[in-house]
Amino acid sequence: MTSFEATPGPAASGSRLLMGRQSMWAALDEALNNEVASATDDLRWLAVQTVASAPQRRALIGSLSIPPGSRVLDVGCGFGAATMELAGQGDVAAVGVDSDGDALEAARRISSSLARSPSSASLRTAFVSGDVYALPFPGGSFDFVFSRFVFQHLTDPLRAAGEVARVLASGGTACVVDVDDGLSISDPAPSEAFATLAGALRAAQAARGGDRFIGRRLAGLLDRSGLVPGPLIVLPQAAYHRPDPAGAERSLMLERLRFARSGILGGGHLTAGEFDRALADFAGEDQGPSCEIEAHLAVFASKPHDAPPGP
Ligand SMILES: C[S@@+](CC[C@H](N)C(=O)[O-])C[C@H]1O[C@@H](n2cnc3c(N)ncnc32)[C@H](O)[C@@H]1O
Repeated sequence: MTSFEATPGPAASGSRLLMGRQSMWAALDEALNNEVASATDDLRWLAVQTVASAPQRRALIGSLSIPPGSRVLDVGCGFGAATMELAGQGDVAAVGVDSDGDALEAARRISSSLARSPSSASLRTAFVSGDVYALPFPGGSFDFVFSRFVFQHLTDPLRAAGEVARVLASGGTACVVDVDDGLSISDPAPSEAFATLAGALRAAQAARGGDRFIGRRLAGLLDRSGLVPGPLIVLPQAAYHRPDPAGAERSLMLERLRFARSGILGGGHLTAGEFDRALADFAGEDQGPSCEIEAHLAVFASKPHDAPPGP
């Protein structure tokens, strides 16, 4: 393991640094919320997810001790929140790469708005268009490669892991974070209607070549790509939901399901009748209190010092 240990290091300590980071996060939250308000369709869902998962993302990134002068890459950066948070960890230059032009445009817009805030004016970020299967960088270009919630969408995650390994410098570290739907429990158990809809969402993602159980496979993929895995960190999330008269959580989920409807029907995962009935049942369910616990996996893997840099 290099010095990218997932434990509080010098970069995570010091109240001035902490305050600076919190102001940067506040400016980032404001910019992301502007995107939530203006984005449409799948980008809106990505914006909502980027805001909602900020505490878990920041807890992980804030625990990294990134040596000054490091070159950092965020693969599948989306709106670039992690790219900017990684750059905010200290004297590092962070590059976000993504194949979605609209997400990159939003990332650049957010980054420009942060540049106007004193707390984040000195962040060094760049956003580049590129495919995870053919990253547009020479071998050995980065000391730390981060990728979050991307591998679950890939038809060929092993090829992507190979690209991560190629662009890492010898002695560098990769951190790949993703979901595993096996790590999810709730009380009460999900209703039949919700289980039907969640199963259809999962099946639609699998039909596109994705895998919502990728978390348990990440270490093996990185291992087969020439990196040395370890440690594997479970990132737990737990929430107790009191009955919500405004139904904010439910509305968000309903919005996501409505957006996914055509893909679910088009893939034959449910008929229109089954989908609409399950959605109506779910929308009409009594919202009692519930406790939900789920976890993601963060897998660290290092490139041996004697590994060739790659082409
Ligand atoms: C769920 S989003 C995650 C965004 C961000 N990493 C985060 O944690 O919020 C997945 C991202 O991966 C990108 N992506 C998917 N396939 C890709 C590919 N083949 N090459 C580059 N980016 C890809 C998508 O465009 C999207 O921005």
